[in-house]
Amino acid sequence: MTIPDAPSPPSEVEARLAAGWTIPAASYADPDVHAAELDRVFARHWHLAGRLDALERPGDRLVAQAGHIPVVVLRDGDGELRGFVNVCRHRGHPVALADGNAARLQCRYHGWTYALDGRLTGARRCRYEPVFDKAELSLPARRRSTRGARSSSSTRTRAPTRSPSPRPSSRPS
Ligand code: FES
Repeated sequence: MTIPDAPSPPSEVEARLAAGWTIPAASYADPDVHAAELDRVFARHWHLAGRLDALERPGDRLVAQAGHIPVVVLRDGDGELRGFVNVCRHRGHPVALADGNAARLQCRYHGWTYALDGRLTGARRCRYEPVFDKAELSLPARRRSTRGARSSSSTRTRAPTRSPSPRPSSRPS
């Protein structure tokens, strides 16, 4: 059997696996296969965010990836473990750039600030926008879980939220 240059249809791959072969070599570099894996595998399962002992104090946070979605897992002021999409609701910059500790999440791009429960608490010049509603622009929550001494995050939302789009229809500049 020869190794094909292009990814094979699923039935051919299954036949190869049943015969004791590995998946076609081209599958490891094909962008369509990568996109399908992100959608069908990584976007649907739990991902390790880090060790639980890095989240002991209020404000402790870990940045991670859940498939293609950047996430931040943190300990809030009430001691609850929370997970959010790590994307500012203004223009999509990460709200946490690295693991660490802080009393809030503040985007470095234009300074929008979020409480540790994900609420948007500060947005420069928003008072000049008549329809701007901070309550609609919280960070989208992610499910999180602890297993042993690790913290994990899922790409699925913990509770119904608005559209996950990081770009509201009205936002101050
Ligand atoms: S992108 Fe975050 S404040 Fe503008």
